[in-house]
Amino acid sequence: MALDQFLTALDSMLGEARACLETVDSAEALEQLRVKYTGAKSGALKSVQKMLAGIEGKDKPAAGKRFNEVRDGIEEALAQAAQRLGVSGVQESIGPSFDPTLPGLRPNLGTIHPITQSLEHLKEIMGRLGFNVTEGPEIEDPWHNFVALNIPEDHPARDPLDNFYLATAKASAPILAGRTTQSAQPARLLRSQTSTVQIRVMETQPLPLRIISLGRVYRPDAPDATHFPMFHQMEGLWVDRNVTMAQLKSVLRLFATSYLGGDVNIRFRPSFFPFTEPSVEVDYWWNGQWIEFGGAGMVDPNVFQAVGIDPEVWSGFAFGLGVERLCMRRFGITDIRDLYRSDVRFLRQFAT
Ligand code: DAH
Repeated sequence: MALDQFLTALDSMLGEARACLETVDSAEALEQLRVKYTGAKSGALKSVQKMLAGIEGKDKPAAGKRFNEVRDGIEEALAQAAQRLGVSGVQESIGPSFDPTLPGLRPNLGTIHPITQSLEHLKEIMGRLGFNVTEGPEIEDPWHNFVALNIPEDHPARDPLDNFYLATAKASAPILAGRTTQSAQPARLLRSQTSTVQIRVMETQPLPLRIISLGRVYRPDAPDATHFPMFHQMEGLWVDRNVTMAQLKSVLRLFATSYLGGDVNIRFRPSFFPFTEPSVEVDYWWNGQWIEFGGAGMVDPNVFQAVGIDPEVWSGFAFGLGVERLCMRRFGITDIRDLYRSDVRFLRQFAT
C-alpha cells in the first residue's frame, strides 16, 4: 500500500472522529464512538494499524509516526468529550457501566470444620464442670507415652507396628520398641494417646488439679469407616483428696447428656488399662447398638508414684474419649474418612 494513501486514510479518520466527538451529546453515544475508534477487537484504529504491515519498509517509520499521532489525537478528543459530558472516565468496552448502588459480591467464606466445632463444644461443656484446658506435644518420648503410664516394656501397646516411631539417628529394632541404649538417641514417636498429657500436667502443676486436654493422636490403622491413622481424643484428669469412682461416673454422664442430648443412654463396663485401677469402658447407645466412646478409671498408684505424688494422700480419676465418634454421632456422619477428605461440599453441610 502506498504511503500517501495510508496517510490520507489516517487523516480522514482523525477528522471524522474529531467532528463526531465535538458534537456527541450523551455518555452512551460517547461510549459507542470510543468502541468504534479505539475498540480492541475491531476499532477503526485497529484496522488501520493492520494496514501498516503492507507499507513498504522505507516508508514504515513515517507511517508509524503518523499513526501514533492520529491515535493520540483521537484519544485526546475522546477525553475532551468525556470531560464536557461529565463522564468520569472513558469506560472499558468489555462490560456494562459500573453501578455503585448494586449490592456487593459476598466474599467466599469458609466454614468451621465439624471436628473443630466439637473440640470447642467439648471444652465449653467441661469448662462448666470446672475443667481447665491444657495442651501437650504431639511428638512424645516413651516416658510420657508409656513408662510413666505404667505400660511395661513388653506391653503390646509399645509394638512398632502399633505406633509411629520417628527415625532417630541410630534407629534400630530395640530403640524402635522404645528402649534406649547409651549410644542411641532417645526414641520419639507421634503420641498414640492423649494420656501423655496427664503425666506432663502432674509433673508440673500443683495439686489439686482438674484438667482436660484435646488433641490429635496417631496410630498406624488402615483407614475404613471407623478408623483413621490420625484422630482426636479428649483426656480428662481430676486429682484431689478423696476423689471417687462415683464422681467419675457423674462427670461422664453429665458430659454425655450435655454433648449428645438428654435422651442419650450410657453404660460403664469393667475393663483394664495399665494406668487406671479399677478401669471401665464407657458406651453410648446409638442406632440400635452400644458404641464405645472411651475408657476411664481411677488413677493407678504406680502412675502417681512415677510423677512423685503420694497415692496415700491423693486420689484421682482419668478418662480418654474419642472425639470423632462423638462428633459423628452428633452430626449423623457415618464414615470417619469423610471428615478428612477436605471436600468442601461435604464440610459445608455443618456450617453454623
Ligand atoms: N488412653 C486410652 C486409649 O487411648 C484411653 C483411656 C482409657 C484414657 C482410660 C484414660 C483412661 O485416661 O483412664 O485407648
